[in-house]
Amino acid sequence: MTALPSDGLKGSLKVPGDKSISHRALMFGALAVGETKIEGLLEGEDVLRTAAAMRALGAEVIHEGPGCWRVFGRGIGGLGEPDDILDFGNAGTGARLALGLLAGQPITAFLTGDASLRRRPMGRVMEPLERMGVRFVSREGGCLPLAVTGPETLLPIEYRLPVPSAQVKSAVLLAGLAAPGETVVIEPEATRDHSERLLQHFGANVAVTDGEDGRRLVLTGQPELQAAPVMVPADPSSAAFPAVAALLLPGSDLRLQGVCLNPLRDGVFRTLLEMGADIAEENRRVEAGEPVADLRIKSSSLQGIEVPAERAPSMIDEYPILAMAAACAKGRTVMRGLAELRVKESDRLSGVARGLAACGVVVEEGEDSLIVEGCGGRPRGGATIAAELDHRIAMSFLVLGLASEQPVTIDDAAPIATSFPGFTELMCGLGAHFS
Ligand code: S3P
Repeated sequence: MTALPSDGLKGSLKVPGDKSISHRALMFGALAVGETKIEGLLEGEDVLRTAAAMRALGAEVIHEGPGCWRVFGRGIGGLGEPDDILDFGNAGTGARLALGLLAGQPITAFLTGDASLRRRPMGRVMEPLERMGVRFVSREGGCLPLAVTGPETLLPIEYRLPVPSAQVKSAVLLAGLAAPGETVVIEPEATRDHSERLLQHFGANVAVTDGEDGRRLVLTGQPELQAAPVMVPADPSSAAFPAVAALLLPGSDLRLQGVCLNPLRDGVFRTLLEMGADIAEENRRVEAGEPVADLRIKSSSLQGIEVPAERAPSMIDEYPILAMAAACAKGRTVMRGLAELRVKESDRLSGVARGLAACGVVVEEGEDSLIVEGCGGRPRGGATIAAELDHRIAMSFLVLGLASEQPVTIDDAAPIATSFPGFTELMCGLGAHFS
């Protein structure tokens, strides 16, 4: 797919539902007693894999209409052994959270994924779960495919996250639901808290306190999870793509409706504002326990800045698209604390650096940093970028193509459907040109 230099984006758009909340709504629904009604579920490939996995484990999962799903759960510890291998496709969140969920079932399950997911580290989740009594069989390096067997009785643990990962935190909490007593997770750097919010929404007791060593979560095990309706807000990580495109293209006036602005997810918007973006929040409200607002975005001249490293967990998935904004901004943008970018759907640090260089942008890739010299206008573009099975790399370089002098091509647009089905059609409706 090729993105052609375009004029401003105009109109109003609701991007699909949040991926993190969608995975969790299905999983907590499968563990709850009763009927969980979900509205606004992201119907991207990643989440559909989780829906299929929950079905294979015995939950009833019914697709009622666009975004509207019903889950009839089996209760904590009540899921059954799946007949076949659970294939999570491209979804790291699906696979890692499922390992935590499976830890609480005294069954054996086999998990795999696509070529990208089979390269990603699962050891970070296996390690705490093994301490709780879970057994794994995997090859050297702890990658998929692997087998997981939950014990008859799980041990509650106290676990300090060695990496700032909401997936690891959530896997331990999901397992802790089935353990007697209190499971404690300490996160030195706060990561997205959708699991905590949804667990509370489903009636579990999760106490959260901020202390000197970070955020401390105490989950009381073996609650009765009560089914509760979930309204999934628009995904801020998806919203970032049309938002940056609108900022970069002259003459834009775009409204993004109902974007989730959870303070542990909104780092990219705070950063863009610091760069001089014209983004106005309208109609801030709370929907299903999450803060949301409409965002009105107009074309802006952006300035390069130094992005505080401690902001990284709140915008970890947005560095690729931020780097595209940085390439068009005036002056240098410095991004640090990016080690986790190397273990996403692809090595995003090197993918972004290579792709930008191919488009004529001066960029410096460090071990865990990226420095982009912005050209203060349209970069040259005119390159073909390898998407490496990574939806966010694909969408980022398509946005760059809209804002470059020459078209930018990505070799494979298929991965976009994992998180943002309809991306190109929606963008075309706003005035973007693709061929
Ligand atoms: C996610 C957590 C993050 C993020 C991913 C979704 C989640 O991953 O990159 O897209 O839903 O918990 P890590 O936990 O690896 O940081």
